[in-house]
Amino acid sequence: MKIHLADEAATLELGKFIAKLCPPQLFVIHLEGELGAGKTTFSRGFLRALGHKGNVKSPTYTLVERYDVADRTVFHFDLYRLSDPEELDYLGLDDYFSHNAICLLEWAKQGGELLPQPDLVITFTYQQHARNADLLALSPAAITLCKNLNI
Ligand SMILES: Nc1ncnc2c1ncn2[C@@H]1O[C@H](COP(=O)(O)OP(=O)(O)O)[C@@H](O)[C@H]1O
Ligand SMILES: [Mg+2]
Repeated sequence: MKIHLADEAATLELGKFIAKLCPPQLFVIHLEGELGAGKTTFSRGFLRALGHKGNVKSPTYTLVERYDVADRTVFHFDLYRLSDPEELDYLGLDDYFSHNAICLLEWAKQGGELLPQPDLVITFTYQQHARNADLLALSPAAITLCKNLNI
């Protein structure tokens, strides 16, 4: 499923729509795309839709940022600076990919095989000054989400 994102507001809005449709159980979203493609912008729209009021930056150095919003916990990862997937052991992955958390991951490929499979993969690409988002649903919950996405 391809979605044209004409400007930054459209990327924020996609984050908002998807946040509102996330199922109540653990849900993992991989955000793919080059630097500046819109992964963090999407995450910002997503977190704001769930009531987060402050900043949302890529957690490039801390690797993961936790947000307690509404009645959910959202973990926002940025694995760009991970030099070895084994470093993830120190993060204690089981603490994140459990319960009914939502996990947003930028640069998930850096995490290698240790990471659990995503429900949804969103790939952002440049289209001149705008962006495109390509949604790939990999679980029944994600298929339902995409069906309900009215954009
Ligand atoms: N649909 C869009 N069209 C044009 N610019 C966008 C769009 N979405 C986001 N941007 C801009 O592109 C940049 C994306 O940065 P960011 O979200 O930090 O990217 P990433 O996390 O993928 O590196 C920001 O400057 C943002 O304002
Ligand atoms: Mg980013």
